[in-house]
Amino acid sequence: MKNILVTGGCGFIGVNFIRYLLADPDFKGRIINADNLTYAGNPESLENIAERYPQRYYFEKADICDQKQIGAIFEKYHIDAIAHFAAESHVDRSIVGPDAFIRTNINGTFNLLEQTRRYQEQIVLFHHVSTDEVYGSLGDDGFFTETTPYDPSSPYSASKAASDHLVNAYHRTYGIPITISNCSNNYGPFQFPEKLIPLMILNALEGKPLPVYGDGKNVRDWLYVTDHCRALWTIMQKGQRGETYNVGGRCEMRNIDLVEMICDLLDRMAPDSLHKPHRNLITFVKDRPGHDQRYAIDFSKLEHDLGWSPEESYETGIEKTIHWYLENTKWVNRIKSGAYLSWIETHYADNAS
Ligand code: NAD
Ligand code: DAU
Repeated sequence: MKNILVTGGCGFIGVNFIRYLLADPDFKGRIINADNLTYAGNPESLENIAERYPQRYYFEKADICDQKQIGAIFEKYHIDAIAHFAAESHVDRSIVGPDAFIRTNINGTFNLLEQTRRYQEQIVLFHHVSTDEVYGSLGDDGFFTETTPYDPSSPYSASKAASDHLVNAYHRTYGIPITISNCSNNYGPFQFPEKLIPLMILNALEGKPLPVYGDGKNVRDWLYVTDHCRALWTIMQKGQRGETYNVGGRCEMRNIDLVEMICDLLDRMAPDSLHKPHRNLITFVKDRPGHDQRYAIDFSKLEHDLGWSPEESYETGIEKTIHWYLENTKWVNRIKSGAYLSWIETHYADNAS
């Protein structure tokens, strides 16, 4: 893999992946980041990367749905591998407006696969970054495995399920060398503050309500983003072509417990905050429609076959994440202007119960 096309590399996980890979002394190739910079794409998250890694990192503002733009990138950089992150990724937004999800997640993936097929002779891998949400919801027991039937609940997860099927179909039908990863909830630096953890940190610091959906007893399996990046690179290097790998944190938490933990850490880590104790800001709001109850991942295939397991514990990972948001005020302030504010304010005004 000498010329890797990373789609959506200005988003949360893409940024972390590009930083992770360029910092790996064993990786000598080039990364070409194609991103059309939606509200969730922030090139500032990769500030100075091109200078720090001359002739190793390139940015192209491109829409994965655009045949001409993507075809030109394959040609120009002689792309031989694809790490496909680009997506509309927020479940709440998919409920309010599914169109962009169908366009980017399904049609965009289809277009990328078609371009890959066009340049098939030079392609060694198409890796699709997907989600555990394709499996639907668990009850109190059990885990998602790679053979759990697909049962998506939201327009977001249905669009990701459709894209998984397309990627598998291009392997079976055209012999495209693919791998797929289905991962649980990520957290860490550079995450857009519409997702639970950064939203709670930043709202708490501003003394705003901390909106917990329903009774707060929904469970997610949290994974520190660098662990996910290491899993992705492990799968890309060693994964069997045509196979799917589940990725998880072995870290199930109820939302309410996680939010209370963040509040308590903030009481200690931001001692001058005017809003202590931050737990007083917790507000239960109307539930998300179709809200999946519990996610838990069985990643034994990845662990046993490829030797990956998570390294960060949630205690250290959440503390590191809070520290990052406290330190990176320039990034936070830039993100919180514009599109972000209008969405959050409208959405939570509608949701208040
Ligand atoms: P994100 O929303 O932070 O970033 C998405 C990026 O894709 C942005 O930079 C955006 O500008 C870009 N993008 C969107 N539409 C595009 C288009 N049409 N053309 C080009 N670029 C486009 O998302 P994320 O949290 O970094 O997630 C990345 C991938 O990982 C997604 O495919 C998501 O489904 C998957 N995933 C995310 C998580 C998680 O917890 N965040 C967990 C499992 C899987
Ligand atoms: O499981 C992987 C998925 O994790 C990824 O595929 C998605 O791209 C990613 O957004 C994430 O989806 P979730 O819906 O689980 O993440 P979110 O941060 O939106 O919500 C986490 C949980 O917290 C969920 O049960 C809903 C709840 N929640 C969320 C928000 C934003 C709240 O209670 N209050 C909130 O304000």
